[in-house]
Order: sequence, then C-alpha cells, then structure tokens
Amino acid sequence: MNQYKKLFEPITIRNMTLDNRLVMAPMGTNFGEQNGEMNFLHMNYYERRAKGGDGLLIVENACVKYPEGSNGTTQLRIDADNYIPRLYKLCETIHQYGTKIAIQLNHAGASAMESLIGIQPVSASATPNKAGGAIPHALTVEEIYSIADDYAAAAKRAQTIGFDAIEIHAGYSYLISQFLSPLTFVFVITNSFSFEK
Ligand SMILES: Cc1cc2nc3c(=O)[nH]c(=O)nc-3n(C[C@H](O)[C@H](O)[C@H](O)COP(=O)(O)O)c2cc1C
Repeated sequence: MNQYKKLFEPITIRNMTLDNRLVMAPMGTNFGEQNGEMNFLHMNYYERRAKGGDGLLIVENACVKYPEGSNGTTQLRIDADNYIPRLYKLCETIHQYGTKIAIQLNHAGASAMESLIGIQPVSASATPNKAGGAIPHALTVEEIYSIADDYAAAAKRAQTIGFDAIEIHAGYSYLISQFLSPLTFVFVITNSFSFEK
C-alpha cells in the first residue's frame, strides 16, 4: 500500500481540490430514461462509487444537442433546463461524501443513427465514420459555431447545476474526433472561410 501513497493524497486542479487521485472514468451505463433524464437507480449507481471513496466521478457522456447529437436512446441529456433538477440532486448526493463530480459533454456527429434521430447526421465532412454508416451532412462554418454554442450552453448549465468540472468528449469517432481525424476531415481553405469571430 505504501508504494501507492501518492494515490491517496489530495490534489488541487485550479480551484478544485480532490481528496485523492482516484478518478472514475466516464462510462455510458444505459441507465438513463428514454427522455435523457437520470433516474434514481442511476443516481444510486453513482452514489455507491462516491461511498467507495473516489476523489472524482466523471459522469458518462451527456448529449449537448438533441436529436442530432444523440448516440442512443438512453443517453443522458444536458441540452435543456428541464434536466437540471435531477442532475442537481445527483451533485448534491455525491458531494455529501466529499467526492467531486464532473460530467462529460458530447455530440455524436456521424455516429448518430439516422433511424433513431430521424434526421441526417452531421459531421466534419460528408464521410461516414464507419463502414456502412449514413452519409452525414458536412457542417457549414455557421453550423459549427452554433454547435460550439450548444457546448457552451451545456457547460454553463453544468456549472449552474453544481458540477465541479466538465470533460469534453473528443474520442471514439464522435463529432470532435471527426474533426481531428484525417479520415473524416479535409481542411479546404477558400476565400470565404474564416475561423475569426
Ligand atoms: C461500458 C463502457 C462505457 C463507456 N463510456 C464512455 C463514455 O461515455 N465516455 C468516454 O470517454 N469513455 C467511455 N468509455 C471508456 C472508459 O471511460 C475508459 O476510457 C476505457 O474503459 C479504458 O479505461 P481502462 O484503461 O481503465 O480500462 C466506456 C467504457 C465502457 C467499458
């Protein structure tokens, strides 16, 4: 045990101090309700991790834009204010144990299934990110800014709710990773293209 002493020491990251360095990675549970809300079974699952003594829990990826950013029917949502009360209850419960809590923000991009979301998925280009996947709509610059605003609104909501931090999902072939991968994003400079805003 002595060789893992550091693991049980507090650590401060900006203005957040964790009791120890045990961090639960975000893991989709499929415990969410069909409408993207948390239920009490779900809260109990996280509470048991906090009771176990984790320094920080990172709640599984939550959708920032519905339906186009959704990755499944029972994914948590944080794209509207009606999700605040139960997430508030979750934060309150976890904080009782001295555990900090973050939530992961996500937009599924081309990983969204057209049959579930009922519209064409979006992505960094019109390239499916999986063999046999739907051809997504290539986002325009204005649409990219609009999704950035959705992330910002979700982050603000997370702060209002009482989360101690957020994590941005940029892996697993979801929207942000579609911009990072040369397989799904080709950067074309045109006269009308500008990242300044
Ligand atoms: C069932 C399951 C759901 C997961 N959901 C997410 C998720 O929502 N967000 C994420 O970034 N990673 C997710 N992951 C990945 C884990 O957070 C973790 O990175 C991965 O299991 C590797 O960690 P390990 O090396 O400790 O096993 C998931 C993993 C599993 C097994």
